[in-house]
Amino acid sequence: MASVDVGVALLGYGTVGASVSRMLAESGDEIERATGHRLRVIRALVRDTAKERSFPAADGVLTTDFAAIRDDPNINVVAEVMGGLEPAGGYVRELLRAGKPVVSANKQLVAREGAELFATASAAGVQLRFEASVCAAIPVVKVLRESLIATNVHRILGIVNGTTNFILSRMERGDSYADALAEAQELGYAEADPSDDVNGADAAAKMAILATVAFGSRVAIDEVETRGITEIEPAHVAAAADLGMVVRLVGIATLANEAVDVRVQPAFVARSHPLAAVDGAFNAVMLQGDAIREITLEGPGAGGTETASAVVADLVSVVGTAGTGFLQNDACWRELDRLDPNAWRSPFYVHLDVADRPGVLAHAASRLAAHEVSVAQLVQRLGDGQAALDLVLHEAPLGQVAAALAEISAFPEVLGRPFVAPVVSDRSL
Ligand code: NAP
Ligand code: HSE
Repeated sequence: MASVDVGVALLGYGTVGASVSRMLAESGDEIERATGHRLRVIRALVRDTAKERSFPAADGVLTTDFAAIRDDPNINVVAEVMGGLEPAGGYVRELLRAGKPVVSANKQLVAREGAELFATASAAGVQLRFEASVCAAIPVVKVLRESLIATNVHRILGIVNGTTNFILSRMERGDSYADALAEAQELGYAEADPSDDVNGADAAAKMAILATVAFGSRVAIDEVETRGITEIEPAHVAAAADLGMVVRLVGIATLANEAVDVRVQPAFVARSHPLAAVDGAFNAVMLQGDAIREITLEGPGAGGTETASAVVADLVSVVGTAGTGFLQNDACWRELDRLDPNAWRSPFYVHLDVADRPGVLAHAASRLAAHEVSVAQLVQRLGDGQAALDLVLHEAPLGQVAAALAEISAFPEVLGRPFVAPVVSDRSL
């Protein structure tokens, strides 16, 4: 059978774009054998065509002229691997309107402007895919949208940011936060502005996308309760180790009673839990649902080649499903309520610095008891007239824990603000 030539354009030829180009060149024969199609990069939009590239583009491929891509009838599909909201978003809209399918690795764009972009794609009758926007190499969007189409996923636990997982894993080994972040930047894991990684915005975008796809109801990124890892100190990492846990930035999306809650925060993860074993820049997503009970996907969540793997898979899927329709549709089909955040339940870790005086512990215990919050574990370390208390609380509603901690903090012997993080230990099967 004669092979079909497919013209591919890239918006961006940086870490991911150059890797997509390399992969399509080096795996072209395999893709053609499997699909009967030869995908060729014929244009790539950049800012500076003279810049040195990790995989040099063929002569004439690099351009600074977007219209040369939009208006070229030989370009059948475009990968947006440029990043940022603008001009990337405007370009994607123009391409869709021009009838060109687009695949995007841009989580901020998909999380913030997905509704409108999907409407544009549907109106134009072309596909918009976004596998690479979440967890790089891990094919979680495809699994949710296709493999689990008939399954009610009701909870997602995810380590979805490679940079922060890399930093926390390094801190466990004694490295400083600053050194670990610098190394993550050197290795190409971090965003152009790494504050999106460390303040949780990158993970929030990915969790908003995953929750939207899994629950079929749009979750806006601004609705995701988000805390990053900037407040994490070596003392937290050491306290977690003493309790048989590790600190991880965990995204948790919950669907309960037809209402949704999505949050990203540092969590204390029991060493026995699968997420605790996720090391370095790896990501993992645990999907829980009635029929499937639990499926965990783990793999590289950042890096040029790793992300290119998902971009290329989406390009091939676009070509393979052209004309068949349903996969171009927006995943959202309903509008779910939001869970009252105070009703969200979890076990929690709490750190308190207190004056080492009689009655302090009894006060803390009485306030917890008054709000029906039960202590599962308590470690006390003494020093210099002070005591550091590490408590693990049994599962309780967030609102009750917050109310107890507010009363505990008001006690003059309690020094500073309590540090609180959810504990991930129960697999909730
Ligand atoms: P990058 O290395 O900074 O590459 C960005 C590319 O876009 C560069 O080639 C740049 O051109 C081009 N570009 C940027 N602004 C432009 C503009 N206004 N006009 C024309 N070209 C422009 O970024 P990256 O790491 O490849 O990331 C790309 C996307 O993939 C982002 O959305 C990112 O979040 C996502 N992603 C990245 C990873 C990862 O591990 N790196 C993983 C998953 C998803 P010049 O080269 O000429 O400057
Ligand atoms: N900066 C992101 C991360 C890249 O560290 O996970 C992948 O989206």
